[in-house]
Amino acid sequence: MHKPVALITGASTGIGYEMAKIFAARGYDLVVVARTAKNLKELHDHLSPLVKVTYIPLDLSQPKAALTLFNKTKKAKLEIDVLVNNAGFGTSGDFVDLELKRELQEIDLNVRVLTELCHLYGAEMAKRKKGKILNVASTAAFQPGPWMSVYYATKAYVLHFSEGLAEELRPRGVQVSVLCPGATVTEFAGTAGVQKSKLFKSKILKPATAEAVAIYGVNKFLKGKLLIIHGAVNKFLAFGNRFTARIVARKIAGYLNRA
Ligand SMILES: NC(=O)c1ccc[n+]([C@@H]2O[C@H](COP(=O)([O-])OP(=O)(O)OC[C@H]3O[C@@H](n4cnc5c(N)ncnc54)[C@H](OP(=O)(O)O)[C@@H]3O)[C@@H](O)[C@H]2O)c1
Repeated sequence: MHKPVALITGASTGIGYEMAKIFAARGYDLVVVARTAKNLKELHDHLSPLVKVTYIPLDLSQPKAALTLFNKTKKAKLEIDVLVNNAGFGTSGDFVDLELKRELQEIDLNVRVLTELCHLYGAEMAKRKKGKILNVASTAAFQPGPWMSVYYATKAYVLHFSEGLAEELRPRGVQVSVLCPGATVTEFAGTAGVQKSKLFKSKILKPATAEAVAIYGVNKFLKGKLLIIHGAVNKFLAFGNRFTARIVARKIAGYLNRA
C-alpha cells in the first residue's frame, strides 16, 4: 500500500529531526534533507524499521539546490504529500559589521529556497488537488528585530508568504500552514550567536524543547490549522503586538536579542 511521503528540510538536528520522528510514527515515509550526511544516515538507520527513509545530503543555500532536490525526488518516483520547509538559520550583531555573504546565504536559505520548494512541489500538489505544506517561521516574524534584523525580516516574509499562499492554494485542494516557534533549545542559538541573549536566558520565555515544538506543530498542522504559534506566552505576545506601537515592539525585540 502507498504510504504518504513527508519531505522535511533541515532534518539533521533540532525541530526538523523531531518532526521526522513524529511523521514516521504517524506512518509517513520520509525524505530528509540537510548538509550533515552522518546525522541523516543515523535518522535513516533509526527509523528504517518503521518506514522508508530516503536521505539526501544537500546544501540548500547553493544556487539550483531546490531544483536539484526536486529532480532527485522525481527521479526516485517519490510523490511528496507533505512538504516541511524547516531548514533555516539566524545571525546576530550589527548588520553592517556582519559578513554580507552569510547574510545573503541566510536570505537564500530562509526565503529563496523555501519559496522555490513551495513553487515546485506546490504546483504538483495543485495538479493532484492534494497535498500539505508546512513552513517554519518564528515568533520573530511578528516584529522587527534589531541585532538580528535579517533573520527577523526573513521570518516575516515566511509568515506573510505562507498566509497568502494558503488562501491561493486552499481552493485548489492544498493546505498551507506556518509554524512559529519561540526560543527553542536546538543548535539554532549557537549558530546565531544568541545563547547569551536575554531571550534565550529568559525565565518567562523559557526556551521550549525541540520535541515539544515538533509535537505541537505537527499535531496542529495535520488538523489543518493555518497559523501555529507554540506556547501560551508566545501566542500572547504575537497577539499583543497588534495593539503595541511598532517602536515599542522593536525596542523590546532589540533588548531581548542582546546579552
Ligand atoms: N531554535 C529556535 O529558537 C527557533 C525559534 C523559531 C524558529 N526557529 C526555526 O526553526 C527551524 C529549525 O531550526 P532549529 O531550531 O531546529 O535549528 P537547528 O538545530 O540549527 O536546525 C537547523 C536545520 O537546518 C539545516 N540547515 C542549515 N543550513 C542548511 C543548508 N544550507 N542546507 C540544508 N540544510 C541546512 C541544519 O542541518 P545541517 O547543518 O546538517 O545542514 C539543521 O538540520 C529554522 O527555520 C529556524 O529558523 C528556531
